[in-house]
Amino acid sequence: MNEQNIYLDYAATTPVDPRVLEAMLPYFSEHFGNPSSVHRYGQQAEAALEEARELVAQGLNCLPREVIFTSCGSESDNLALRGAAFAARRDRNADHLLISPVEHHAVSRTAQQLARLHGFEVEYLPVDEFGQVRPEDVEARIRPTTAVVSVMYANNEIGTINPIAEIGAVCRARGIPFHTDAVQAAAYLPVDVHTLHVDLLALGGHKFYGPKGVGALYIRQGTPILPVLTGGSQEFGLRSGTHNIPYIVGFAQAFHLAQVERQQRTQHVKPLRDVIIGRVLEETPDSRLTGSMDRRLPNHASFVFRGVDGNALLAMLDAAGFACSSGSACKTGDPEPSEVLTALGLSREWALGSLRVTLGNRTTAEDVEAFLQTLPTLVQRARQLSA
Ligand SMILES: Cc1ncc(COP(=O)(O)O)c(C=O)c1O
Repeated sequence: MNEQNIYLDYAATTPVDPRVLEAMLPYFSEHFGNPSSVHRYGQQAEAALEEARELVAQGLNCLPREVIFTSCGSESDNLALRGAAFAARRDRNADHLLISPVEHHAVSRTAQQLARLHGFEVEYLPVDEFGQVRPEDVEARIRPTTAVVSVMYANNEIGTINPIAEIGAVCRARGIPFHTDAVQAAAYLPVDVHTLHVDLLALGGHKFYGPKGVGALYIRQGTPILPVLTGGSQEFGLRSGTHNIPYIVGFAQAFHLAQVERQQRTQHVKPLRDVIIGRVLEETPDSRLTGSMDRRLPNHASFVFRGVDGNALLAMLDAAGFACSSGSACKTGDPEPSEVLTALGLSREWALGSLRVTLGNRTTAEDVEAFLQTLPTLVQRARQLSA
């Protein structure tokens, strides 16, 4: 086992920022009240909850009332899709779901289940070779019976950023609810919901140095939506369950820091990312960048290597001290190439050899150099193993 320990998987999760942890700590055992309680313990917790909601609303440029706290990004996506789909069916007999083919499973599997169990029709939008959705394609496919349109802001596997504001404008003009999964995007991109013309926007705390197990969903006032989690009617009746105050406080603090430090965080990771992309393509034979070069997350580099087993490469990188990632399928040891890479039109020979390198606040130029020194040899070795 190598002594070196270099984390290059910030799209999977990030460490909790010490400032976030500090803000959370008093709410575990000191201010532990339930915000639904009438007494002063409850009032104190409620004050923290509403302060957190206001902080998140500031970052989203929306009303506090439009922020719903959830348990994770996946839950936010589920509430957006299921909640909007069921409301649209109830109100206007709509049963058509229009989504991109490269959505995270939190969206795609939810849509598939709505189709399988509840009779909705799922239509997939086309994407270009970079995984980008074109607003014209949304315009051409949207119907009066479309219940909800869902297109992710930035893709987790290939880092591509979608033209959300333009797609949002198309949906708004047709009066159809538009959801975007901003779970990856929010770490680096502005999430002003007015500029983006979105009705629903999902966030997850652990992608921007907040804790795991907490998320939020922006729901534009007036958007028809039904709750998924029913019970004590917390979160304006849209998400029941006793509030997880320490995590909500941490989420809000982390989200706030992501807004105020966006520029400096971007300036830190982007040049390092560009060095990685340039040198990997130059120094590793039969390599390709996946996703867009210019419209991609500033901390995200992703590649495919022809004739390489991505799992083997990840294991070798790990043994050499580098924590990276691959397409989602590889994580489970599934020999099938990732659905995202297949949607881009990549052949199996290329798509099985995927690698995702995502940077963050602790990544240094030395880390990047060490990685670049190691990678070509490991790709060559993995290729020989596959031959
Ligand atoms: C684009 C995207 N959506 C949704 C999720 C799910 O978020 P969570 O892990 O908070 O449930 C992820 C997590 O990887 C993601 O990258």
